[in-house]
Amino acid sequence: MTSPLKVAVTGAAGQIGYSLLFRLASGALLGQDRPIQLQLLEIEPALKALEGVVMELDDCAFPTLAGVEIGADAEKVFDGVNLALLVGARPRGPGMERSDLLEANGAIFTAQGKALNAVAADDVRIGVTGNPANTNALIAMSNAPDIPAERFSALTRLDHNRAISQLAAKTGAPVTDIKKMTIWGNHSATQYPDLFHAEVGGKIAADVVNDQEWLENDFIPTVAKRGAAIIDARGSSSAASAASATIDAARDWLLGSAEGDWVSMAVRSDGSYDVPEGLIYSFPVVTKDGNWEIVEGLDINEFSRAKMDATAAELTEERDAVKGLGLI
Ligand code: NAD
Ligand code: LMR
Repeated sequence: MTSPLKVAVTGAAGQIGYSLLFRLASGALLGQDRPIQLQLLEIEPALKALEGVVMELDDCAFPTLAGVEIGADAEKVFDGVNLALLVGARPRGPGMERSDLLEANGAIFTAQGKALNAVAADDVRIGVTGNPANTNALIAMSNAPDIPAERFSALTRLDHNRAISQLAAKTGAPVTDIKKMTIWGNHSATQYPDLFHAEVGGKIAADVVNDQEWLENDFIPTVAKRGAAIIDARGSSSAASAASATIDAARDWLLGSAEGDWVSMAVRSDGSYDVPEGLIYSFPVVTKDGNWEIVEGLDINEFSRAKMDATAAELTEERDAVKGLGLI
């Protein structure tokens, strides 16, 4: 066995944490040959609950779990971490938009960006799940000047997985036949799940579906508003599916996306597809050995252009708002 990968999880006593930690510890990230050391951050009042979760982790006797440390001091917990999964944040309740959380969560991601900058391992990768995820990632990135910007990403993999699942249900194809799904933009109701490049059994999804009414008025809103639908139904936001997507995203980032396919990741825009440079915007990316590259050269039709611009405009507003708050 090689040395353990040190994985930090913030908000570890929360609902996503309760699903995420057990999957990380059981080898869902890197398989059975690479042990994981968990370094778990919580606020003081939640540490007792987290101790209970650690007892449960112990009780699973996972062969791939090399050790667990917990604490409320980010500089201690992030020490030497290779992967930081920033989950801890205040989730939205019924009637709230994710952007309502900007101020409440800004302070958290400022402090955590600084702590990562100070003590994380040189090869650290940082995935932000806590909402508003894109802008939280921007805040953390802006507060970590010594960490290359491409090491930060925000989670749109859940939206990507939701889109695959909806398309599979519509076409009757197994999810494994669906490739090249793209979520463009923000992890919010303005996100744009794109069926003009996604493929079902090798054919363009929009052609297979051949139903613009469904695409516009059913598929896109169902995917974009799925988080709210789950909050309405469960009374709390998605947790197991969010944990699963967090692992999918981190696994593909570290180990590589599948040949002939791509994944959606919100990463720093370099101006590709005329997305304003510097926004954390979800693009189609291929990943390899811990690096990602935006898939370039896709034709963008007028319908897609308008949707991609609308979600960029929302992210620009969020960026301006956090700039105004002095967070970046
Ligand atoms: P939760 O309230 O159950 O847990 C959040 C945990 O974070 C709590 O235990 C809290 O004590 C902790 N926390 C708060 N401030 C912290 C800090 N400064 N440092 C460390 N921990 C801190 O929430 P949850 O359901 O686990 O969701 C967590 C976040 O993930 C929310 O912002 C939610 O909206 C978001 N989310 C994102 C996606 C996505 O696809 N990007 C999907 C689902 C949920
Ligand atoms: C989700 O998409 O399920 C999460 O972002 C939670 C939320 O607030 O919608």
